Amino acid sequence: MSATHIGIFVGSLRKGSYSKSIAGFIEGLSSDRFSYKIIEIGNLPLYNQDYDDEGTAPETYEKFRKSVKPLDGVLFITPEYNRSVPAVLKNAIDVGSRPYGQSVWSGKPGAIISSSPGIYGGFGANHHLRQSLVFLNVLPLQQPECYLPKIADSINEQGELTSDKLKESLGRFIEAFEKWVMTTKES
Ligand code: FNR
Repeated sequence: MSATHIGIFVGSLRKGSYSKSIAGFIEGLSSDRFSYKIIEIGNLPLYNQDYDDEGTAPETYEKFRKSVKPLDGVLFITPEYNRSVPAVLKNAIDVGSRPYGQSVWSGKPGAIISSSPGIYGGFGANHHLRQSLVFLNVLPLQQPECYLPKIADSINEQGELTSDKLKESLGRFIEAFEKWVMTTKES
């Protein structure tokens, strides 16, 4: 059986990003059955509808859309910016959603992991993101939810996850997500 391909979208461009560390850890959970790969979103120019209307879309848009379209599932790992989704991630979602009628997101199972050095675990970003995904006909895993508060306490200077509790909790979340992906495939 060939692997089920999951794309990971990270809502931070920061070198020492906690979200990137979490994404790297999840890439490492790839198996024969499920492959996890971070999809680059930092190179996408801000979405401008003229590009699509005039047939002048940047090459990076085409490449991004082509890389998302065949995926079996989509996993979003994001911090919260001002109680919402960081612009870089929202931009990628917008780029993938157009041209009108050709969204690359529709019908894919998805999941959201939000984190914060603060105590709320990126709840606001998690739910704003969920709102866009539901509109785009992505099928986000509803339970369990994944909010990771005080994330700086569980990742070291090298960007490695140092907390067994965090690793176990991410492992359980990914297990639930994989079940969800299989459920949506069968239905
Ligand atoms: C933040 N941060 C933040 N944190 C939070 O819990 N809620 C928030 O609303 C915000 N807002 C916010 C806005 C902007 C513009 C920045 C730059 C930061 C703090 C944020 O959680 C922290 O910088 C994380 O470390 C960002 O995630 P990465 O880059 O480590 O993945």
